[in-house]
Amino acid sequence: MLKKITGILFVLAILGLIVFSINAFSGIDEGTVTDPAFSRKTRGDVFFDHEMHMGAAGVVDCSTCHHVYEDGKLLEFESSEGMSCSECHLGKDGDILPLIEAYHQQCRSCHIEEKAGPVTCAGCHKTP
Ligand code: HEC
Ligand code: HEC
Ligand code: HEC
Ligand code: HEC
Repeated sequence: MLKKITGILFVLAILGLIVFSINAFSGIDEGTVTDPAFSRKTRGDVFFDHEMHMGAAGVVDCSTCHHVYEDGKLLEFESSEGMSCSECHLGKDGDILPLIEAYHQQCRSCHIEEKAGPVTCAGCHKTP
């Protein structure tokens, strides 16, 4: 009997570990937006909570933010999750929305549209 319980506990512990590591390494926890393109920031860090946003108004799924376009057309069910916005939005050739505007347009427009979430500089950029 005791052996059986120990066995069950062991299995539960392993399962817990797996779930924990998925959360810890998927990069989708709450935290600060740290796009690698901004090596020297001029504004304070921006806090962002993935999990909260997955339940927020206006968010359909991951691709609401992690979108994919082809020939200028949004591919509705494709997602670019796992890629940084800067991998596409560096805007050197001028035909894509520049990175800072890409962030501001995506975050801010939705907050304005949904009348929820911060819309001022200081509301998003927390001074260190
Ligand atoms: C409301 C917008 C939004 C939604 C919805 C969203 N994300 Fe994100 N996600 C972001 C932003 C912004 C970043 C930070 C991008 C960066 O650092 O370049 C990010 C970063 C990530 C990263 C880390 C990428 C990296 O460069 O390290 C992963 C992985 C990720 N998201 C997965 C997901 C998944 C999976 C979902 C759906 C369950 C999702 N996201 C939904 C906005 C969103
Ligand atoms: C795989 C490449 C790619 C990734 C990754 C990507 N984008 Fe885009 N994005 C595009 C393309 C292409 C367009 C359409 C051309 C344009 O409007 O500049 C676009 C359009 C936009 C637009 C204007 C249209 C709209 O949907 O509102 C915003 C805002 C935007 N992106 C923000 C972001 C943000 C923020 C991220 C990161 C969470 C991101 N993008 C990640 C390629 C990408
Ligand atoms: C498609 C819609 C949408 C997009 C895109 C979006 N948000 Fe939000 N956000 C919301 C909504 C809705 C709320 C309010 C949720 C609530 O109060 O329940 C919110 C709330 C917030 C809050 C307040 C959280 C709190 O705990 O009060 C912060 C900070 C935030 N968003 C940051 C961001 C950032 C940074 C981005 C861009 C990377 C972003 N959001 C993109 C819809 C969006
Ligand atoms: C809804 C949220 C939101 C609002 C409002 C907002 N920002 Fe941002 N901003 C972001 C996010 C997200 C990034 C990307 C941050 C990163 O990767 O470090 C960013 C990046 C920046 C950057 C480039 C990175 C840096 O720190 O140098 C500047 C500059 C900036 N914002 C200035 C402003 C100014 C000025 C305002 C007010 C007019 C403003 N932002 C309002 C979310 C916001």
